[in-house]
Amino acid sequence: MSDAPKHTPRVFSGVQPSGELTLGNYLGAVKRFVELQDGGMETIYCVVDLHAITTWQEPSELADATRQVTAAFLACGLDPKRSILFNQSQVPAHAELAWVFNCVARLGWLNRMTQFKDKAGKNRENASAGLYVYPNLMAADILVYRGTHVPVGEDQKQHLELARDIAQKFNNDFGRPDFFPLCEPLIGGPAPRVMSLRDGTKKMSKSDPSDMSRINLTDDADAIANKIRRARTDPEPLPDTLEALEARPEARNLVGIYSALAGTDLEEVLAEFAGQGFGAFKPRLAELAVSHLTPITAEMNRLMADPAEIDRILGDGANRAAEIAEPILAETYDVVGFLRSR
Ligand code: TYM
Repeated sequence: MSDAPKHTPRVFSGVQPSGELTLGNYLGAVKRFVELQDGGMETIYCVVDLHAITTWQEPSELADATRQVTAAFLACGLDPKRSILFNQSQVPAHAELAWVFNCVARLGWLNRMTQFKDKAGKNRENASAGLYVYPNLMAADILVYRGTHVPVGEDQKQHLELARDIAQKFNNDFGRPDFFPLCEPLIGGPAPRVMSLRDGTKKMSKSDPSDMSRINLTDDADAIANKIRRARTDPEPLPDTLEALEARPEARNLVGIYSALAGTDLEEVLAEFAGQGFGAFKPRLAELAVSHLTPITAEMNRLMADPAEIDRILGDGANRAAEIAEPILAETYDVVGFLRSR
């Protein structure tokens, strides 16, 4: 599938600083970023502030939101010595390569992006042009490092397919078969798509108007327990087969969260809880979630008390990221045929 052997394996992923990080971001992405840190590949993780402004962000809040995602990265176990951690706007090569990709990607490709349709909603004429070309910037984020592996939640799958299409078309158009790698999405585990606690058919999202629909990484123990207690469920006891579970979205979601937090598979959770009602299961899930998240929240709060240190980590990460990105961008400009006189 991937042509990774022709390129140094390198992990890249990003998270938007637009609202509180949720349990979905944690289980679908950040927890896996941390695991990959020990997987023998170089790991680069970015707080994508350029992406965040595709929808309105209060300028007075954006810098703090960027620090907060960084604090979450660190509190979840990312180590700025082992991974490169930085915010996107400090490395101009992302935006520069994105322009080239705006000229490679086809309108027809972008028109198929379901996230644009969801985010633009009914009033599409009023969406920013940035929201429309968002996936091109995402491809640039990855390919400006020649990233080969991209850990994400399932909602980003279509964007990563587009990144592969862009890489492939660039390589074909310019007659350079292996110039950019066809990056491989790393989507998996028991919770690649954590769903809303209020509606098992909708993804848990930091932009959902109902705070009861999600668990935020900043929620305290009482809030977590309360949200799980009030999570929507059906009246049946938990089933003993995966097939029966798949037909019940809310039950599937809570069992998926349990198994991701416990580090077990879905079958093991069913083996333990089959036949029991949610009255028995929910308190156990709440206990597990609280024991996982409380130390992360406490560490985030500690880190946020020293914003200068977070800024220092991001500045250092940006310098290291730019060292990798700038030569790849320069090579790209040469391939495109831009004149460079410096
Ligand atoms: P963002 O900021 O919406 O989400 C960050 C990561 O969290 C995952 N995620 C979830 N996983 C499981 N269940 C959920 N309910 C859930 N909600 C969010 C997302 O899949 C993502 O992995 N476009 C990206 C950011 C980005 C990026 C990139 C990612 C920009 N450039 C380059 C990878 C590579 C986004 O908006 O993620």
